[in-house]
Amino acid sequence: MKLVLFNGSPRYKKSNSALLTEQFLKGYDRFCTEPVPVYYLANYKQREAAAEIFEQAETVLLIFPLYTDCMPGIVKEFFESVAGKSYSPAKKVGFIVQSGFPESIHSEGLERYLKKLVQRLGCAYMGTVIKGGVEGIQSMPPSMTRKLYSKFEALGEYFAQNNSFEPIIATGLRKPYRLSRTYAVIFNLLSKTGITNFYWNGQLKKNGGFEKRFAKPYLG
Ligand SMILES: Cc1cc2nc3c(=O)[nH]c(=O)nc-3n(C[C@H](O)[C@H](O)[C@H](O)COP(=O)(O)O)c2cc1C
Repeated sequence: MKLVLFNGSPRYKKSNSALLTEQFLKGYDRFCTEPVPVYYLANYKQREAAAEIFEQAETVLLIFPLYTDCMPGIVKEFFESVAGKSYSPAKKVGFIVQSGFPESIHSEGLERYLKKLVQRLGCAYMGTVIKGGVEGIQSMPPSMTRKLYSKFEALGEYFAQNNSFEPIIATGLRKPYRLSRTYAVIFNLLSKTGITNFYWNGQLKKNGGFEKRFAKPYLG
């Protein structure tokens, strides 16, 4: 197995990670005909087999969402399943972390963790692509996702030819690093109207969690 992709979203095939993977592979397939298997950590059976698949692959890409400034539990479980074994230093491991907040600064702490993890596994770290502002792409019209999708397609094209992330695209995807002061002021004003909570309140209601939204499970 040359390249293997893991999707670490708990949303499984209906995830933003899956949509971005689709675009990446669209570009990848244009230059590399060898099929790329995609494994979903949200699927229990695939998660159980993941450590062995990781061991066999020459290059591993893991795409997942930022969860509470870190990673979903299934991704952590996967990392624990691959830890403590010895791997070829030629095995390459890279990441794509995408998040809801637009600024890439949110994912930087996790990026440091991922780099250290790969070094401790004794593999070659390929870098981490960070993209913020991804929540909502499922409900956006094609005109709003075209730019983002074409960047992921181009990332895939380059990856197929060079077995690495294209640095200019990867740098561009990190923008904005931080929101400007003006934007922050506008956002704070908007948040007073409740509009900024509209989407997430809808999600909470849909999943029966709205009444519990201020719960603090770890406080007495
Ligand atoms: C439990 C949970 C925690 C999240 N934590 C963060 C976070 O800390 N920072 C952020 O920018 N986005 C956060 N998000 C938003 C997701 O990263 C974002 O919606 C992502 O695009 C979801 O990707 P997926 O559909 O592939 O799972 C969180 C979402 C959930 C459901």
